[in-house]
Amino acid sequence: MEKQLKYKRILLKLSGEALAGEKKMGLDIPTITEICKSIKKCSDAGAQIGIVVGGGNYWRGRSSDTMDRVRADHIGMLATAMNALAVADVLEGLGCEVRVQTAIDMKQIAEPYIRQKTLRHFEKGRIVIFGCGTGSPFFSTDSAAALRAAEINADILLKATMVDGIYDKDPHKYADAVKYETLSHHEILVHSLKVMDSAAAAMCSDNKTPILVFDLSRPDNIYDAVMGEKVGTVVS
Ligand code: GTP
Repeated sequence: MEKQLKYKRILLKLSGEALAGEKKMGLDIPTITEICKSIKKCSDAGAQIGIVVGGGNYWRGRSSDTMDRVRADHIGMLATAMNALAVADVLEGLGCEVRVQTAIDMKQIAEPYIRQKTLRHFEKGRIVIFGCGTGSPFFSTDSAAALRAAEINADILLKATMVDGIYDKDPHKYADAVKYETLSHHEILVHSLKVMDSAAAAMCSDNKTPILVFDLSRPDNIYDAVMGEKVGTVVS
């Protein structure tokens, strides 16, 4: 029997670091290609896919002590736009139809973000990549993912990370860290579990957006998650 989609419309959050592979900086096209192959499988299965990309492979605004925070965030937003274009290029190379929409106008390079256009692109089977975060400083790209997920009525926000779910403490530091299978939004906020920053977590909670946190070191987890296989931790 053919597998059925568990989630029809998804918002996938990819960190900038995930695009850098072992290099940790810049773009690693073979790594991006593996991620994009999994995304294409979801699209071929009928999922409507929006992607928010981070920018940490180029720039970490908060690591700069001397720079004005607003300016640092502007540079970070431009970094996410570069990543959006790179992911779009790889997806197109695999045969997907893709549109890049940015929260800050750069019309010569990408479409401006217009929700109605996004929804139309979905109807036509196109993948939409959102660049420039929320378009405002002081917000993370996790907040952008939470915002876009709410705007497009995503069935789930898939947060790709380097850990295979949510733990009670850092599993890289503590051998006895325990993984949660499921959690409520309330538990995330009350226990200050480091899933996303508090603004993003609060937005998901307010809008009742389910979140699935999973490990991207196996890129096919994206496809498995969308098909409802047991990966990561679900927050609902
Ligand atoms: P439909 O009208 O649903 O068929 O969508 P479409 O995206 O194919 O049509 P549209 O005429 O809006 O866009 C045609 C091409 O131009 C697509 O590759 C878009 O991504 C691109 N495009 C549309 N608007 C802009 C823009 O403001 N800036 C840039 N750089 N490209 C744009």
